[in-house]
Amino acid sequence: MAAIRPTEATTAPWWRDAAIYQVYVRSFADGDGDGTGDLAGVRARLPYLVELGVDALWFTPWYLSPLADGGYDVADYRVIDPAFGHLAEAEKLIAEARELGIRTIVDIVPNHVSDRHGWFRAALAAAPGSPERELFHFREGRGENGEIPPNDWVSEFGGTPWTRIDDGQWYLHLFAQGQPDLNWAHPAVRQEHEDVLRFWFERGVAGVRIDSAALLAKDPALPDFVKGTDPHPYVDRDELHDIYRSWRAIADRYDGIFVGEVWLPDSERFARYLRPDELHTAFNFNFLACPWDPGLLRSAIDDTLAEHAPVGAPATWVLCNHDVTRTVTRYGREETGFDFAAKVFGTPTDLELGTRRARAAALLSLALPGAVYLYQGEELGLPEADIPRDRIEDPMHLRSGGVDPGRDGCRVPLPWSADEPYAGFGSTVEPWLPQPAAWASYAADEQGTDPGSMLTLYREALRLRRAEPGFAATPGETSDGRLNWLPSAPGILAFTRTHGLICVVNLSGSPAPLPEHDEILLTSVPLDGSGLLPDDTAAWLRRKR
Ligand code: GLC
Repeated sequence: MAAIRPTEATTAPWWRDAAIYQVYVRSFADGDGDGTGDLAGVRARLPYLVELGVDALWFTPWYLSPLADGGYDVADYRVIDPAFGHLAEAEKLIAEARELGIRTIVDIVPNHVSDRHGWFRAALAAAPGSPERELFHFREGRGENGEIPPNDWVSEFGGTPWTRIDDGQWYLHLFAQGQPDLNWAHPAVRQEHEDVLRFWFERGVAGVRIDSAALLAKDPALPDFVKGTDPHPYVDRDELHDIYRSWRAIADRYDGIFVGEVWLPDSERFARYLRPDELHTAFNFNFLACPWDPGLLRSAIDDTLAEHAPVGAPATWVLCNHDVTRTVTRYGREETGFDFAAKVFGTPTDLELGTRRARAAALLSLALPGAVYLYQGEELGLPEADIPRDRIEDPMHLRSGGVDPGRDGCRVPLPWSADEPYAGFGSTVEPWLPQPAAWASYAADEQGTDPGSMLTLYREALRLRRAEPGFAATPGETSDGRLNWLPSAPGILAFTRTHGLICVVNLSGSPAPLPEHDEILLTSVPLDGSGLLPDDTAAWLRRKR
């Protein structure tokens, strides 16, 4: 049984170099056979996660939700959705995982609630100008009869972010219609979220992921959006930092940590969220969006380390999550970066090439200093699935008028056993999203015994990453920036960590010699007959002197 990694002064705090696995509960494993993944499914698969070698699980929202946005529309933060289980079961899961050495991170969605949340129902039932409506952003419309939305903002999912209700007022929702934005200038909104944080920390969670963390605060005048205006009316406003400082004080009482979903291109603004009295970490979306290109990857790594160093926060390395195109698919396309706006149906994809690159990217990201996030199924090398259009549920697809393929292609129920119905997901009826015909060929049971599989690569890499002190964060060294680039030929990324560890990635277009070394720890594919590192592959080496 794995032990929780100690947090004494001799080692850095666990979250500075943790490997964190994202569980999209609805699609992880179905314990009761009804077609939807659930907590029973996760509990039954904890041994798999122990064997994989991850330090923590981040659960996408598991709260009561009408699923207008896959659970990011929360009707009650203190209730587990009955489709997933119940609160006592969540507590059991948190405790069982912890016994097995795995910490839990829950997902809090502070920007908005569900339109079924008690507060919003009360606001609808109350009159314009009432205290109930002040918890949200209700406004009169423009135009002669108030028939034009109050401002010209655009929803993150496309279209206007305003919906008109029966009495003629409009409410703001930066995402789907079923996700009314909260008014963060209201003290009750702050109070409630601080209580919710305490509620989950009291239940033993080790951390909280903060959804849409840079969007909460709005210019109270809700003005039209004029490009280039600073501050932006709703992105990255200064008021947010005070909110996160009070959150940090709460987390510190429980030894809890935060990871913020902060999509900001400006690295200096991004780093402000990671000051010592604010969030511990934030997702590295610049690395996630970076094309498979040696120069761009190297700059993304250097920029990441440089932006984190002044605030003493560890970097995070992310290749994939429940919002973006699966890694093996993205790397198998002509455009290997990620951009929401560029997603279209029918993009040609070379999965063999993408998989080869994804294997190399796994070794790259797991060797970098900081924490690393894996999204369920990434360890199986799952591709983005084509979902029949009439089965797509994602509001991003629906609100785009059917142009954007949406995010369901990366949310397909996992294949566990090749020979069971629905690839062993556990359902006795068809799962909530259909699995592609080839899904069983990715099943975890078969990959587990195949030395050449993606699962075996991840298990071995995570084992080494934990065992080798050279991959660990250094206690007392707050920048965690122990990475030195080795001089290398064009197209080769090679760097050292401590204890003689070397990571080398070949993006040069042809086989390349390995840097000087004494031992080969792991390669993403076997070396070629002459001992060269093939194109689009990576290796971990050790040099003893
Ligand atoms: C975040 C989530 C995404 C969700 C959105 C609105 O970006 O990751 O899945 O749709 O917030 O809550």
